[in-house]
Amino acid sequence: MIKILTIIGARPQIIKAAAISRAIAESFRDDFEEVLVHTGQHYDANMSEIFFGQLGIPKPNYNLGVGSGSHGKQTAEMIVGIEAILLKEQPDYLLIYGDTNSTLAGALAAVKMQVPIIHVEAGLRSFNKSMPEEINRILADHVSTYLFPPTQTGIYNLQKEGFKIASLKSYSKDHPGIFNVGDVMYDNAIHYSKLAKKEVDLKELYGLESGEYVLCTIHRNQNTDDTEKLSQIIEALIVVASSPKIFLPLHPRTLKAISQNLPKSLYEDFTSNSHIIISPPVGFLEMISLEQNAQLVITDSGGVQKEAFFFSKPCVILREETEWTEIVESGMAILTGSSKEEIIAAFTYFEQNSAPSSSIKQKNLYGRGNAAYEVLSIIKKHHY
Ligand code: UD1
Ligand code: UDP
Repeated sequence: MIKILTIIGARPQIIKAAAISRAIAESFRDDFEEVLVHTGQHYDANMSEIFFGQLGIPKPNYNLGVGSGSHGKQTAEMIVGIEAILLKEQPDYLLIYGDTNSTLAGALAAVKMQVPIIHVEAGLRSFNKSMPEEINRILADHVSTYLFPPTQTGIYNLQKEGFKIASLKSYSKDHPGIFNVGDVMYDNAIHYSKLAKKEVDLKELYGLESGEYVLCTIHRNQNTDDTEKLSQIIEALIVVASSPKIFLPLHPRTLKAISQNLPKSLYEDFTSNSHIIISPPVGFLEMISLEQNAQLVITDSGGVQKEAFFFSKPCVILREETEWTEIVESGMAILTGSSKEEIIAAFTYFEQNSAPSSSIKQKNLYGRGNAAYEVLSIIKKHHY
């Protein structure tokens, strides 16, 4: 039995973990034992607990309950907690996802204890080191033993940083194994969209008709913590909402920033607009369904921009750059940053021009929907 200690903490990591947990249950029951550690980085019921029930993920074996705080305090408390669990559990591997503070804490705790690290969603870069996630992902990649970039771009990024792609019998942190097996979120999009079709009724839940609303999410610190940028985005949404409705499941960080920092008159225009539906965060099945039926998506989320692409929806990305460059290159998304004019121009462009043909999707940019299975097959093959 190969023992993997998996670190989750933020919403998208819980969702990503569902793909690996599912692949273990379906295909590797006799090979892998997974111990789930939740750092507690996200803790509201609709940012964490909701996903366990809905996606059939086993409850975490540990929850460190770290909660919110400054980067240093939050990450340090996670490291202390994870180190103690590593000592107790003595796993063969530590598995981390993506680029959050939970990812970095797991990486630092494990590498110092000589526990090999599996980094799923490795190799992505924004080339913007003022993003906390850029720091987290670079550091995590450079101490990992197995790196699983979800795209070919991820492989190129790693090669540019000196990583060598080599076929060895076994790997180490000095000679890591690098494999593009696709994106576990693509596995999930395929798997859960079938369930969402059966279980979610958008009309009944939110009064939304398919194709007649824009789905929007905002949570990046660059947008929420700068009141001028946040105001520009909100002003743009008010303009966009003069035609379709906008459905906005708000991250708690953004809800706080909007209610505490927006100029009063803008706050009132925004919250009293009958075409703007502000909702608490929603479950993953609801989200998938909202994405599949939206006219267009406006987001600064990594996961949501990609899911828009999976479901062939045009996307306005509220960022200056993206790690998912293929989506912008395909013409399915436009980067606008937080500029009001650019957001409105991109929205208008997609209203007037149909999205490009789906031929780009035939290239399996994000794999074939079996990334989680491939990750486990590779670990198993090289372990023995
Ligand atoms: C984190 C990740 C980001 C990821 C996002 C997914 C880091 C540095 N950032 O950003 O990469 O895209 O998660 O959603 O790890 N809060 C609550 N309840 C919660 C969680 C958060 O109220 O359950 C509020 C708190 O005020 C907190 C703020 O949101 O201070 C930010 O939370 P935090 O986890 O620090 O960062 P995210 O913006 O969620
Ligand atoms: N998501 C969700 N409910 C919401 C908003 C997002 O289930 O109300 C899902 C979304 O479908 C995607 C993931 O959460 O799979 C993205 O997480 P988030 O935007 O918080 O973080 P990022 O991907 O930017 O790191």
